[in-house]
Amino acid sequence: MAFRDTKSKIIIKTPEQIMGIRASSILAAETLKIVEPFVKPGTSTQFLNKVCADFMLEKQAKPATLGYHGYPKESCISVNDVICHGIPGAYELRDGDIVNIDITTIYKGFYGDTSKTYLVGDVNEHAKKLVKTAKECLNLGIAQCFAGNYLNNIGYHINKHAVAFGYSTVYEFCGHGVGIRFHEEPEVCHIADKNTGPILAPGMVFTIEPMINAGKARSKIDKKDGWTARTIDGKLSAQFEHTICITEDKPFVLTDIDNEFEIPTSIFNIKI
Ligand code: MF3
Ligand code: CO
Ligand code: CO
Repeated sequence: MAFRDTKSKIIIKTPEQIMGIRASSILAAETLKIVEPFVKPGTSTQFLNKVCADFMLEKQAKPATLGYHGYPKESCISVNDVICHGIPGAYELRDGDIVNIDITTIYKGFYGDTSKTYLVGDVNEHAKKLVKTAKECLNLGIAQCFAGNYLNNIGYHINKHAVAFGYSTVYEFCGHGVGIRFHEEPEVCHIADKNTGPILAPGMVFTIEPMINAGKARSKIDKKDGWTARTIDGKLSAQFEHTICITEDKPFVLTDIDNEFEIPTSIFNIKI
């Protein structure tokens, strides 16, 4: 192309699209609930993937990861020092592991993306603390999701919290716009400068998915499979992810099915 559009390509979603993304997001979140009872010592990650894949199929939701740039499975399952994009396989969970399951559904053409880190059996205090902090980082990011705020305040607050505990924030993988496609603009960095980047506006939909490391922030990709991202020092990494819509008031956390976040009242004014 001869021209490059320098304007923001952040898609502002219509109310109809937001409700479509919400439906898909609910299915992704339900998948994480369905698989939870199976997250215990002795279960293989490929079995966990099968539970997720079967549920999505039953609900007529397509797993967005399958075939995405050649990715081979219906979910990403990342154990211990795996930061993200772990490929489900023969590995059997052990007592004391931490494991992230990341699900992206396509339902009626709309994408919903969510992940959480589970504790396997009896987990030590050090690992528990990391997982708890990663969840807090996501929630602090969500608290920055209001119209008029700078996008990068999300990453600023996430990293500030991680650093306060002596942890580091992964910068090589980011959150992203989502909904119509898997990865849209903007890139949502989890470590960023205060009061920089685009201004948040109602109708923007993106993920926040901080990966917090116990040691160094750097990652390395497995040479054999080309996907699995691990910490360079072998220390633990934990991650949580939600899909969020900016509204006129509070953020609408589209992948929240636990009523952990209030549904903004402005959503009820939307006529579909
Ligand atoms: N679900 C991941 C995300 O949060 C992306 C996985 S891409 C894959 O963005 F190809 F690894 F599946
Ligand atoms: Co994502
Ligand atoms: Co994801």
